[in-house]
Amino acid sequence: MGRAVAQLTVLGLLLALAATLPSKDDWNIYSFHINSTVTSRYATTVITSRVANRMDESKEIEFHVQIPKNAFISKFRMFIDGEAYDGVVKTKEQAQQQYTQAVTRGQSAGIVSSVGRTLEQFKTSVTVAAHKKVTFELTYEELLKRTLGKYELQIHARPMQPVKDFKVDVFIHEKAGISFIDVKGELSTNALANAITKTHVDKQAWVYFYPTEDQQKTCSNCGEHGLNGDLIIAYEVNRDSGMGEIKASDGYFVHHFAPSNLPQIPKNVVFVIDQSGSMSGKKIQQTRTALVHILNDLAEDDFFGLITFDHEILHWKQELVRATSDNLQGAKSYARSIQSRGSTNINAAVLEGTRLLNAHPREGSASILILLTDGDPTSGVTNPAKIQSNVRRAIAGKFPLYCLGFGFDVNFEFLEKMSLQNSGEARRIYEDSDADLQLKGFYKEVAVPLLTEVTMIYIGGTNLTQTNFSYYYNGSEIVVAGEITDNDIETFTPQVVGISKNRRVTFSNTSSSMVTSTETASGGLLQRVWAYLTVKQLLEKELLLSGSEREEVKKEALELSLKYSFVTPLTSMVVTKPQGESTDVLHKPKEGETPHNRQGGFGLAMPAPNMQHTSRHPPLYGQPGLSRHPPLYGLPGLSGLPGLSDDALDDPEPIHKITYSSYFPTGDFQPIKTEAPRPSNDFLLVASPTFVPLSHRFLIKNETQSPPLCFDVSGAVLLKLLHHPSRGLYVNGELDSVTNGGFQKIVIHLKTDLHVEFNTLGIKVQEGQTVTHHTGQDLFTAGSATIIRRNNEIDVAADDIRIVILIHTKDGKEFYWPVLRQRSSADDIEGILALKPAVYEEVQQNSVTKVKIEDQEFYATSSTAFDYSVASPVSMRCWLVSADAALQRSLNDFLVAKL
Ligand SMILES: *[C@@H]1O[C@H](CO)[C@@H](O)[C@H](O)[C@H]1NC(C)=O
Ligand SMILES: *[C@@H]1O[C@H](CO)[C@@H](O)[C@H](O)[C@H]1NC(C)=O
Ligand SMILES: *[C@@H]1O[C@H](CO)[C@@H](O)[C@H](O)[C@H]1NC(C)=O
Ligand SMILES: *[C@@H]1O[C@H](CO)[C@@H](O)[C@H](O)[C@H]1NC(C)=O
Repeated sequence: MGRAVAQLTVLGLLLALAATLPSKDDWNIYSFHINSTVTSRYATTVITSRVANRMDESKEIEFHVQIPKNAFISKFRMFIDGEAYDGVVKTKEQAQQQYTQAVTRGQSAGIVSSVGRTLEQFKTSVTVAAHKKVTFELTYEELLKRTLGKYELQIHARPMQPVKDFKVDVFIHEKAGISFIDVKGELSTNALANAITKTHVDKQAWVYFYPTEDQQKTCSNCGEHGLNGDLIIAYEVNRDSGMGEIKASDGYFVHHFAPSNLPQIPKNVVFVIDQSGSMSGKKIQQTRTALVHILNDLAEDDFFGLITFDHEILHWKQELVRATSDNLQGAKSYARSIQSRGSTNINAAVLEGTRLLNAHPREGSASILILLTDGDPTSGVTNPAKIQSNVRRAIAGKFPLYCLGFGFDVNFEFLEKMSLQNSGEARRIYEDSDADLQLKGFYKEVAVPLLTEVTMIYIGGTNLTQTNFSYYYNGSEIVVAGEITDNDIETFTPQVVGISKNRRVTFSNTSSSMVTSTETASGGLLQRVWAYLTVKQLLEKELLLSGSEREEVKKEALELSLKYSFVTPLTSMVVTKPQGESTDVLHKPKEGETPHNRQGGFGLAMPAPNMQHTSRHPPLYGQPGLSRHPPLYGLPGLSGLPGLSDDALDDPEPIHKITYSSYFPTGDFQPIKTEAPRPSNDFLLVASPTFVPLSHRFLIKNETQSPPLCFDVSGAVLLKLLHHPSRGLYVNGELDSVTNGGFQKIVIHLKTDLHVEFNTLGIKVQEGQTVTHHTGQDLFTAGSATIIRRNNEIDVAADDIRIVILIHTKDGKEFYWPVLRQRSSADDIEGILALKPAVYEEVQQNSVTKVKIEDQEFYATSSTAFDYSVASPVSMRCWLVSADAALQRSLNDFLVAKL
């Protein structure tokens, strides 16, 4: 029985995979249009896909597109057989309910979003009868942001087949006039060049991209599945020297302010660079390259400081110095020599950066603090809230803090909050070959401050979006929207006040800038711009607040999202389908929730009912909302099947369909109070995640007062935890390859045909062909082993051996940590859990520390590791040595090929 179910599941899965890339003979996209209209930097894009089912039977047809992260979806509809089915934006809870109902009726429910670097994906499907057609229509909206002197509209085209009638139409209308327009992106290559037409007449521009079916197959990046790439339309508008452009209609106004004829304000800039161990390799190399370039770009009247940090803070110079060529030379050679090592003391580093800037007040200058880090705070003050309050107090609103989070191991929300609290911004630096360019690009954006303390004043205006900006940088733009009280344009008086170098400047000439304002015909567009900006800013504000204030802001953002039908992180779109079909729920993922690598599959977008009721399920089943389990894990019986290892989950665009596992617990979960586990009499082996995604730090404790040894193991390796041939007992564990937790899977082989697997979904017992699932809440036996889960630990006793699997949570993600509580009397026992305590001697030689183990000396670095062998892990100091040194044999001896 168990077997049959499992096989069906696999078959179903393979079919699903096959269905994602349709053959033209099955269903045919006969028309695919993207139509984007940009008016005053506000882009409304409609994607229309028309598909025919060519089969003699009904067929599930998929619509799958990618849209910019910054956009809000505002409309989705399907036309089938003359009927229109509209998506409806609802609160998350309402959507959830509808979704849950669908699930309880036994219908499948779909997920329709995920994140890439700049894109999110929208995916839904519908069953279409034989020889019938369906039309999908998706609308999204975004305010284009001016960066480095231009606006960019990104259009991603990937219809998944060559399409006979394929068209991208872009129309741009800017009342100030378009100064240049340029078409870039992978799709703008030679092979496709003649498919692009660009027309530009003063205030209007058109870009058409009509590749033939043949071109869609032959272009670079394209193939038998047709186009796959971006078309990027970059443009800039003409600018006057003052107020910029103010448009008003229907009682709303939008003001674009971006003067460029101001002198540059000299900067005091401090770079605080993480050089912890996790930065090693390519990241530190790219950081060095970027720093050298950035230093080259400093202006002579800029002052700068350079701090690198791990657990210690290192200065190039103890104070800010002028960017003279000598100083730059010195800083560059320092930058080139930055080495990675140690842990991450963000608190001390940022405070030190602040101290440097505070110690160097300079009239008419602009101070900027830039933090680059790739990990969580792991040394010094590590509590994020505490660091935030320290930093906020130290900076005291005097200058902005920009946080650059390098890679996906950072706690981005922490960085985001910290920068927003200090009027800065957080950015992700994607771990990729162009990371140095991303760093340089970011620096360029803040390289030329033109104004500080910018206050936008609108007499006769109300319900304004943000009006105070600490800095205005050349190449960027300040956008403010609001309502005009009683739509009285006569008394509406905008004014901008700011400080340029030492001078207070006022911009107030409204008549010229308002000239175009009364030409309306924008059909409520300005109001949508206002709503878009307001929702974006409220969502940011929400991060900074707590308690009832936060609820207020959330409520306001939610109401606007609903009113304007925006799919934001607070709302969902329910896509209703023809009778008898599942309901899809579309969520907007939050930045950073689904990284672009393998984690791309980790669908934060999961609207799973179990996700909403966090507390009702034992943590064993994954942390709601932060699930790191690809939806595939939810397929019953899948997780342990041979041939469907994690490799199957590596697809960067995983299937976002969830089917509920039949062994999800449904009852209420009451945590049982147990005493904290006592340290064993035996020595302890504990592990700590380090700061690299693919590296884990292990501790080998000892029985003396001196610090334990620690070592790092990288990769998603399978480790031999305990092998006990005479008892026929083998325990292996798989390190989590994605996050920095410990083990994500542990398998105990009790006999050749009896295996118990612990993964974060539950406990699976496979005896011969029979598979059973357990939560462990009730004691059960498997062969000679008895297994029970108590609170956050699973106790496994087999003969005279007792292993406790501790379940820890870090950043909302769970991992396992096994501890051997009772050793067997037999002595043919080996594995990571059976290591002897560390016995070593410290040797100091000219400030270099070595440890002497069995007469051999090894280099050691003072570091820290978490002791995960106890219920509440604590960070402790340890001597970091190589794995081979710590283990006293090759690490390879502790690896296994198969779980
Ligand atoms: C694109 O959309 C705009 C606005 O809805 C519409 O006026 C225009 O005709 C469309 N263009 C094409 C080529 O469909
Ligand atoms: C600001 O940028 C404009 C072009 O976008 C440039 O002409 C001007 O020189 C820049 N100003 C400064 C101070 O660099
Ligand atoms: C904006 O700045 C002005 C002048 O600096 C100040 O009076 C006002 O309170 C600020 N407003 C907000 C919302 O911070
Ligand atoms: C401000 O506007 C008025 C009336 O439109 C115009 O006469 C004047 O020259 C403008 N002043 C500046 C400084 O641009």
